Amino acid sequence: MIEHQDAVVRKNCEIAPGIFHLELECPEVFSRIMPGQFIHVRVNSSLDPLLRRPFSISSLTAEKNAVVLYKVVGKGTRLLTEKCAGEKVDLLGPLGNGFDLEAASDADSIVLVAGGMGAAPLTLLAETIAGKRWFSQNMNVLAGAPNTAELTIAAGLRKIGKEISLATDDGSAGHHGYVTDLYEKFLNENSGKKIFVYACGPVPMLKKVSLMSPDNVSGQVSLDEMMGCGIGACLGCVIKTREADKLVYKRVCKDGPVFGLRGIHWEE
Ligand SMILES: Cc1cc2nc3c(=O)[nH]c(=O)nc-3n(C[C@H](O)[C@H](O)[C@H](O)COP(=O)(O)OP(=O)(O)OC[C@H]3O[C@@H](n4cnc5c(N)ncnc54)[C@H](O)[C@@H]3O)c2cc1C
Ligand code: FES
Repeated sequence: MIEHQDAVVRKNCEIAPGIFHLELECPEVFSRIMPGQFIHVRVNSSLDPLLRRPFSISSLTAEKNAVVLYKVVGKGTRLLTEKCAGEKVDLLGPLGNGFDLEAASDADSIVLVAGGMGAAPLTLLAETIAGKRWFSQNMNVLAGAPNTAELTIAAGLRKIGKEISLATDDGSAGHHGYVTDLYEKFLNENSGKKIFVYACGPVPMLKKVSLMSPDNVSGQVSLDEMMGCGIGACLGCVIKTREADKLVYKRVCKDGPVFGLRGIHWEE
């Protein structure tokens, strides 16, 4: 059931230039949120901006408060930086389908591919998988970002991944290039193994991860699509997917944001 709730801001601080750590208390929503699901936040009590903004949950504290890591990119996220501890924030959630964790249980190796802010939902995913009774395989983390500041988002992943490789577009940390270069290397070193990949990041990165994955790899990708209502009503987030060679339109907010590795019809 989708809850419409007031969450209480417990913390909202800048952890790197333009990157914020927001902690929200709302047990009604966060006690049942699954990795990959999201919340739709009203950033202002006035009508501007009119639309809510979607955010992933990056981790849960011991008190089951949600940590949202967000990057300031426009008006909505700028307004969010003004929220102070003790203030209330109107949110909808949990929304979306979330990742399928059990799907990775029989893989020889699990690999997480994070691009920029895409590291946020993968952190809660990794923490949850690490707590599963069946989890014994390697969890490889490949995290890329435009620069070192944005790589801050991947700090939680660094703690979890037994093996972590980093990449930055500007070469300020790790491999100088794209995270997909790291994924290519990983695939070459693990050919023949049964691999499960979870990826989240910009669409061109997800497209590349999907198209370069050979048959021994299955997985899921989480799309970061611009949204209107967030609950499946406005059709503002529709994408083309493939089902048994047929094109099927799906809503990222309601049918996703997580889709099968080979389930999306990528535009040219
Ligand atoms: C399911 C989901 C989970 C998300 N989780 C996070 C998260 O954990 N942390 C985080 O920082 N961001 C996350 N985002 C993206 C976040 O919702 C947007 O950055 C935010 O809505 C921008 O609002 P704004 O008013 O600041 O920017 P706007 O003024 O709306 O836009 C500023 C610029 O950002 C671009 N933009 C806006 N929204 C998106 C988007 N969804 N994808 C790509 N480009 C966009 C616009 O085209 C424009 O160029 C998520 C998005 C989705 C769909
Ligand atoms: S945002 Fe309205 S249907 Fe998805």
